[in-house]
Amino acid sequence: MPERKAYIGLSGLFAVTLSLTAAAIAEDTHPGYSAFQRCVVCHQADGRGIPGAFPPLKGHIARIATLDEGRAYLIAVLHTGLMGPLQVAGRVYVGVMPAQVPGNDYRQLSQILNYAVEVIDAESGDDDWRPFTAEEVAQRLGVGLPNKMHGVAALRQRLDSQYPELFQAEAAQVKE
Ligand code: HEC
Repeated sequence: MPERKAYIGLSGLFAVTLSLTAAAIAEDTHPGYSAFQRCVVCHQADGRGIPGAFPPLKGHIARIATLDEGRAYLIAVLHTGLMGPLQVAGRVYVGVMPAQVPGNDYRQLSQILNYAVEVIDAESGDDDWRPFTAEEVAQRLGVGLPNKMHGVAALRQRLDSQYPELFQAEAAQVKE
């Protein structure tokens, strides 16, 4: 990872001669790449998290984003934060995630979520994926999402009871 980052400033041509993969280039030039760096201290650069402490994003975020309620939930997590307990792939997390994009930088919030789906969880994404936009974030926050962490946790509980497979099967395949 650090070696890869050292090359970002180089021209595309030079990067190719250094034989970086296309995927690596896409990752570093994605509009959400730099804003996502604030997430990596907890969720790690590859989104696998730290089992038992910080849940993975890889393995289930793409599928959450295919559901209307799921999209609202993801926006609320970044805007308001989240306080569990919650389960991913059979592991319990009793943590607190502070709000990451509490203000009105809706573009940045949408780009972070797009990075999480398109890069971090690319393997479980599908072609029906509809990227987040600043407009969607503004619209969903405008009609009202929970503004307290426990309210966001309640949204998740509802998702979990309606679609239990979201937080279980696929995520369980993430190797530790
Ligand atoms: C300080 C550590 C920390 C940072 C930084 C952080 N998170 Fe989290 N995140 C957590 C914890 C802890 C949880 C689980 C909260 C709980 O146990 O209630 C979580 C949960 C989540 C969830 C819910 C997952 C699920 O299965 O429902 C998402 C989505 C998420 N984080 C995305 C992000 C993104 C994107 C960023 C960067 C913008 C980020 N987080 C930054 C600690 C962090």
